[in-house]
Amino acid sequence: MDPHALTRRVLEPRAAFSRIALALLLFAGGAGGAGCAGSGSGVDGTPGAAGLRDPYFPKLGNGGYDVRHYDLTLDYEPRTGRLEGTAALTARATQDLSAFHLDLRGLTVESTTVDGAAAAVNRAGTELTVRPRRDIAKGADFRTVVRYSGVPQTITGADASREGWLRRPDGALAIGEPLGSTTWFPGNHHPADKAAYDITVTVPTGYEAVSNGEPAGERDRGGGRTAFAWRAAEPMASYLATLAVGDFRVKATRTPDGLPVVTAVDPAVARRSSALLDDIPRIVKWGTENFGPYPFSSAGAIVVPSGDLGYALETQTRPVFPLDGFDETTLVHEVAHQWFGNSVSPATWQDVWLNESFATYAEWMWQQESDGVPVQENFEKAFADEANWAFAPAEPPDSSDLFGAPVYGRGAMVLHQVRQAVGDEVFFGIARGWAEKYRHSSASTDDFIDFVEKESGKDLTKLWDVWLYGDKKPRRP
Ligand code: TRP
Ligand code: ZN
Repeated sequence: MDPHALTRRVLEPRAAFSRIALALLLFAGGAGGAGCAGSGSGVDGTPGAAGLRDPYFPKLGNGGYDVRHYDLTLDYEPRTGRLEGTAALTARATQDLSAFHLDLRGLTVESTTVDGAAAAVNRAGTELTVRPRRDIAKGADFRTVVRYSGVPQTITGADASREGWLRRPDGALAIGEPLGSTTWFPGNHHPADKAAYDITVTVPTGYEAVSNGEPAGERDRGGGRTAFAWRAAEPMASYLATLAVGDFRVKATRTPDGLPVVTAVDPAVARRSSALLDDIPRIVKWGTENFGPYPFSSAGAIVVPSGDLGYALETQTRPVFPLDGFDETTLVHEVAHQWFGNSVSPATWQDVWLNESFATYAEWMWQQESDGVPVQENFEKAFADEANWAFAPAEPPDSSDLFGAPVYGRGAMVLHQVRQAVGDEVFFGIARGWAEKYRHSSASTDDFIDFVEKESGKDLTKLWDVWLYGDKKPRRP
């Protein structure tokens, strides 16, 4: 079933109604409406789709527009857990629009405007439907501002992992993969629509608020509250947005090449993480040597106590780690994601194996270089591990399998097989070339297959059939 068709059917009656209402209005006003069709803007639009038909989350993201920039102005009170937000989105219409959707889970929407004029808004589940007063023409830039508030939710996934808005003692942590970012701001929450972000967060004075990108000012707001501004200028998928509020030791330094590095660590884990935090510049440099120019204008990390979060996440420029997941290998993994996943993002959630295979392969490369463990040894360990054969990495059976072992281990085995087939020189050229060709955009599994075959000049059908799509474990190569 075509979800776009469904959306259109559901919304059509209202679009038709507005045209009838307008016709009556024009009639009442005589023939004075010359050159004025649609809803007064000379445009006769249709509603944007409620989702992007992602194979795992069909309603995630929205059709009909492309967000350029998010300006999030937030106020958080750790005592009550209440968030007050204003999200200003600058977007470009990709069709004539009579209405468009935003994704938002929970919270209360207080008001919505489009280009300064109040807009009607409807809610159904995680879909907000915004109806601007005037239709928006294809190609036009528009600005929509949503005021909202409430206590943001924690989402517990089918695999029991937690994401969304995680409360921590005296603070909070926003974790977004794959759906969590929908709990703290309205937007187009699909990795296919990336945008720049300005995030400003007001918290009680004495607390810190750390987000993606570079610090863009700190201001005393009076009344015992302080605002922290952050700017992420390069395109970012919403699942990579983060926010950490609480008692943090924040340190801003630079790599020898001048790249800003911002780290934030909970004082309770500061001593045990300081040596590895100091290692970030060396790992970023290693990534640059292997995968090409670092894609963002800053780097860093956020480290929290182990109980705050069950896994590390590659949030853009500033991955988040629980202390028990803050080891050198995991740091290499999350830094590698800055190229693979964050700069080159998955076109749909089915393509997430591209993120995890490269990040896992980076771990294997690192272990060979720094610990003398041959990549081949990691390949053999992965091959022997039955968990990696539960399903084909490009075909997780269900959304709860998106971060299953095969996405990581078998995904990395796919890359190792490509390397065996094309040779080291071509393989490492492919890793860099892939990061370069799709820098700051999104790419699919088919894009990857095409790219590898083009770069190597080889037909690798059999390799993909067996390693990427095959439903059983092949003979040991
Ligand atoms: N993508 C993260 C990483 O590999 C891990 C991750 C995100 C995850 N969401 C998850 C792992 C849910 C398990 C369950 O760095
Ligand atoms: Zn990962």
